[in-house]
Amino acid sequence: MSDSPVSVHNPNEGQPQDEGPSAAQQKQMEQAYAQMKRKMSMQEIGKKIKHKIMVLSGKGGVGKSTVSTGLALSLAQQGHKVGILDIDITGPNVPKMMGLDGKRLHVEGGRIHPAQGHLGVKVISMAFLLDDDDTPVVWRGPIKLGAIQQFIGDVEWGNLDYLVIDFPPGTSDEPLTVAQSLPDIDGMVIVTTPQDVALMDSRKSIGFAESLKVPVLGVVENMSGYTINGKSAPNSTVEIAGPGGKSISTQADDEGNFSVVVDIFKKGGGKNTAEEFSVPYLGALPFDPGFVRGGDDGVHRIVSEPEGHSAKAFSEVVAAIQEQIGASESSSLEII
Ligand SMILES: Nc1ncnc2c1ncn2[C@@H]1O[C@H](COP(=O)(O)OP(=O)(O)OP(=O)(O)O)[C@@H](O)[C@H]1O
Ligand SMILES: [Mg+2]
Repeated sequence: MSDSPVSVHNPNEGQPQDEGPSAAQQKQMEQAYAQMKRKMSMQEIGKKIKHKIMVLSGKGGVGKSTVSTGLALSLAQQGHKVGILDIDITGPNVPKMMGLDGKRLHVEGGRIHPAQGHLGVKVISMAFLLDDDDTPVVWRGPIKLGAIQQFIGDVEWGNLDYLVIDFPPGTSDEPLTVAQSLPDIDGMVIVTTPQDVALMDSRKSIGFAESLKVPVLGVVENMSGYTINGKSAPNSTVEIAGPGGKSISTQADDEGNFSVVVDIFKKGGGKNTAEEFSVPYLGALPFDPGFVRGGDDGVHRIVSEPEGHSAKAFSEVVAAIQEQIGASESSSLEII
C-alpha cells in the first residue's frame, strides 16, 4: 500500500475526466492516508518511548508473559514509567496477570488509551477486544498484522521510559511486524527453561533476532531452582529427597532454619545457550508457585511479595538488561 494518496493508481488515466474519484478510489485514498498517518504516529511514538524491549522464546509455555509482566513491574518498582504491549492475539494473558481481567480499552479522539494495571503499568492487549476468554481468535494473516500495526500506531502511550512487548511463541509474523513498524527497538530478551532442549529452541530465536536485525540483549533462564525453606533442630544436618530421589543435604543454622535450592528440572539451559551463541546471560528466575497463583488471582508475585525472592531475582535481571541497553536505574526523564 502506498504512503500517499497522490500515488493512488487511476484506472482512467489518459481518458477525459469530468467526474471525481470513484467510490473504490476514494476508499483507497482514505486507506493510504490512514496508513500514512499511522506511520507518522509510529515514528512519533518511537520518540516518546525511550526503551523498547521485545520478549521472545522458541517454545511455548516457558514463561514469556510471566517474564514480560515481571520485568515491567520490576522497572515500575524502580520508579520508571512503563507499558506492556501484549501481541499474543490467540492467547493473550497479560491482562489477567496485571489484574485487568475483563477490562475494556478507552478510545478518545480516535486514539486508544491503555488500561492501567499494578504499579501504574500501562497495558494494551488483544484480550481487551475479545468478547470472552473462551472464544479463540482466528484471523487471517493480513488482518492480524493490520491489527498489530493499529495497536502500535493508534495507542496513546504518552511518555514512557520502557515498553515491554510480549509475543506468542516461536518465530512468527508478529515480531517481524513489530520490528518493522516500531523504530529504535533496543533489543530482544530470550526466555528459556533450564532443560538441554531449551538450547535447540533458543537457537531458532537467536537466528530469528539476527534476521530481524534486532540485537539480542540476552537469555533469561526461567523456572530455575525451587527454594525450600524449613525448620529443624539447631545446627542439624537436613536431608531432602530431590528429583529422582537424589539426596540433597544442607545444614540448619543456630535457630534451626534451613534453606535449600532444588533443581526441579535440569540446570544451566540459559547459561549454556548464552555461552554457545556468545550472547549475554541475564540471570535466572526461580521456580515459584506464586507465579501460578498470581496468574489465577490477578495479583502478580512482584506485587504480592515486593521484597520476596522472585522480586529480587527480577531486579537482578532488570539490572543486567539495563547494562546491555546502557540505561541507568534512576533515570526517568520527562519529555515535554
Ligand atoms: N518461574 C516460574 N515459576 C513457576 N511457574 C511459572 C514460572 N514462570 C511461569 N510459570 C507458569 O507457567 C505457565 C506458563 O507461563 P506463561 O504464560 O508466562 O508462559 P508463556 O511462555 O507466555 O506461554 P505462551 O507460549 O502460551 O505465551 C503459567 O501458568 C505460569 O504461571
Ligand atoms: Mg504468553
